[in-house]
Amino acid sequence: MAALATRGYKARRRGALRRPDIRYKHIFMSSAVNPVGPPTIGFDALLASLQAAGEVTRLRLIGLLSEAELTVSELVAILGQSQPRVSRHLKLLVEAGLAERQREGAWAFYRLADSGGALARALVARVDPADPTFAADRTRLAAAREARRKQAAAYFAERAADWDAIRALHAPESRVETAILALAGDKPIRGLLDLGTGTGRMLELLAPRADRAVGVDMSPAMLAVARARIDQSGLRNVQLRQGDLYAPPVERDSYDLVVIHQVLHFLDDPARALAEAARALRPSGRLLVVDFAAHGEEFLREAYAHRRLGFADEEIAGFIGDAGLAPLAAERVAPAAGEPDKLTVALWLARDRRILADPLPKSTMELA
Ligand SMILES: C[S@@+](CC[C@H](N)C(=O)[O-])C[C@H]1O[C@@H](n2cnc3c(N)ncnc32)[C@H](O)[C@@H]1O
Repeated sequence: MAALATRGYKARRRGALRRPDIRYKHIFMSSAVNPVGPPTIGFDALLASLQAAGEVTRLRLIGLLSEAELTVSELVAILGQSQPRVSRHLKLLVEAGLAERQREGAWAFYRLADSGGALARALVARVDPADPTFAADRTRLAAAREARRKQAAAYFAERAADWDAIRALHAPESRVETAILALAGDKPIRGLLDLGTGTGRMLELLAPRADRAVGVDMSPAMLAVARARIDQSGLRNVQLRQGDLYAPPVERDSYDLVVIHQVLHFLDDPARALAEAARALRPSGRLLVVDFAAHGEEFLREAYAHRRLGFADEEIAGFIGDAGLAPLAAERVAPAAGEPDKLTVALWLARDRRILADPLPKSTMELA
């Protein structure tokens, strides 16, 4: 990895980097931040939230959104109410900061908001799970999820041949994933971001180690498969967002681990993609890039739309340096013995150079 640190492509790339404004709009109930606990909210915001939640349909909506991200049409089917009525209630929840809406192609997904959603979750947690209203809603939700899973499975089935062919091209998936888990380490991950999440396998693998996880992909079809996978895994801390990883719809300075797995070789500007990924990192956060080591399989361009034939360590080192990150580690997973024609997978880990300033423990603050 020493070579990674010394060589770079700085001059070539630096001019291409911009620092645009934040593009993802948070919906926070309050700007007050409590450094030693959950965010606090003001009296007026609390009153508005309770008023928004204090109605039968809206409380049912909160119960459903605490389980899954859902579209209006799914919510209409589950609640058995008209679309305008459900939309009006959702709008009120969004305005109160309890829920948020995310457009994805022709669809819009609703979910509990990051910040205001904490209060909504706390309210739902007080409800008896056997309550007949909530239990009936959950049964209908399970049916809606099953329908979605079947739809995604049909999509995936159409492309299964391609996926298998691609997998068969490189080192065994299980060994790559073992290496990913080892590099991710066992430090707590508050925020995990998977750029180009595709069918969400990295989220399934790593989100159990994270407080919250976000997957971004530009393809609604891939996200539909990912959504079904996340549903089936029972992961509640994962959000999926449609978006371009050149302008990712995520908060800056917010993620401890950003992963970009088998995406870079499709891109026309991998350096910019990594620079954007770096912007999402918290101080001391880590970026994990997994892709093919440089190879010569030209047919992958034609057959599988690859733009780049893998990457040399030096090139990735240049991208990492230009993105302002420090290299941490690099690893390779070679094809299994007896399969020398397959591709080597490379893993590159880098770190944000800023020092992590964790809030001091309460006792230390009192002494200070
Ligand atoms: C081969 S898949 C890899 C998916 C996943 N990371 C994995 O390894 O299973 C590449 C993914 O990158 C996504 N992708 C390609 N270009 C993108 C872009 N500019 N913005 C967001 N996603 C993109 C594609 O839609 C696709 O889902």
